[in-house]
Parts: sequence; C-alpha cells; structure tokens
Amino acid sequence: MNVVVLVSGKGSNLKALLDAIAAGQCSAQINAVCADRDGAAALLLAQEHGIATQVVKFADYPDRKTWDEALARVVASYAPELVVLAGFMRLIDGSMLAHFRGRIVNVHPALLPAFPGLDAPAQALAKRVTLSGCTVHLVDAGVDSGPILAQAAVPVLPSDDVTSLHARIQHAEHKLLPAVVQAIAHGAIVLAESGPIFRSQPEADDLMFCWPPVA
Ligand code: GRF
Repeated sequence: MNVVVLVSGKGSNLKALLDAIAAGQCSAQINAVCADRDGAAALLLAQEHGIATQVVKFADYPDRKTWDEALARVVASYAPELVVLAGFMRLIDGSMLAHFRGRIVNVHPALLPAFPGLDAPAQALAKRVTLSGCTVHLVDAGVDSGPILAQAAVPVLPSDDVTSLHARIQHAEHKLLPAVVQAIAHGAIVLAESGPIFRSQPEADDLMFCWPPVA
C-alpha cells in the first residue's frame, strides 16, 4: 500500500511506521513525507531513509484554501492509497478532503471524542481524568471529529505532568498507528465510500487496542 505521510514536528510516529515496515510488521511503502514548514525533524528522518520530502509552507500562500490546493497537488503526485497525518499541525481543507476522501488518517493524543484540538494531554490533566490514550481516526472537515478506527488507553498517574503523560501516550501511538496502517493494508479495516468496515478485531489478549468502536 502506497502511503504519503504528512508531518510538522519531530516525527516519532513516522519513525514507528518506518521501524514497523523494516521489521516486516507493516506492509506499506512510504512514497513521500510532506511538511507544512521547513526544519521539521521528521523531514531529516525521511531523507535518512531515502524517502522523497516536500515542504508546502503554509506561510507561502495567501490563505488556507490555496495552501490546501497546493498540498493536494503535491500529495496526489505520489498517488497514495492512504495519507497519514503523523503530527501534522494544520487543518486540511476542501481539496485534500476531495482528493483523498475517506483515505486520510490522523493520530491524536487523547481518547476522542474527549479532548480534541491542541494540547490534548494538558486538557486531560486539567480535567483530572485517570485514563487517557490515543486515537487513530479518519479525517473529515472538523477538528479530530472523523470516524474512529482504533484507540489505545494509558493510565494518567497522579505524578504526571504534560511531558510524562504525552510520552506515555506516544508510546501507545507508536504501536497503534502502525497496527492500523497494517490493518488497512491487509483489509482488516476497509475504507469503503460509506465509511470504515471492520473485518477483524485485534487478538483477544491485546487489550490495549480496541476496534471497532462500540456502536
Ligand atoms: C503526536 O502526539 C500526535 O498524536 C499529535 O502530534 C504528535 C506528533 O508527534 N498529533 P511526532 O511528531 O510523531 O513525534
């Protein structure tokens, strides 16, 4: 399965995908890594792996619509079957959604629909929840609002600050995201036009993962 990964930051989820691919646990091929800004560490990581990189800088365009059209053109040139938002810190717009409808996934550091948007680990701490985690979901026009594909939970400890909680959540993300990409590649999750269809479930002893979402 051909994949384009969109990034803005350090790229630990990109690394998790690359590691899973190298270990034969994820049958995807990353055709390109695109960023919305220069200097994202994830771009260097991609280059070290010989993967094409592109920067479609938000600041170079007059508005989000025009930027999104340029991004869609660049991403489409790599003909991805799946677009993975791995720490991509911009909301995409109509062109991306039209080109890749139902084939864009995002990883978010909270158990959606709780704590969408920015600073999810801080939001979780502020609400004093005892359980948080991460969600891989399909991207729609809203903020972290598309159909949930899979979630993984982690405890929130009394001693946690944002850094320690986010680190624990990221540990879970690094397992969940490659697992979901593999599930899509192998047809365990089918991205149908009508929405995701779940053809199988995780191993019964793998309690950390949960899909499909409970109806
Ligand atoms: C992750 O926590 C992801 O959930 C959020 O942004 C962070 C990206 O981290 N959307 P990285 O760049 O993959 O290390």
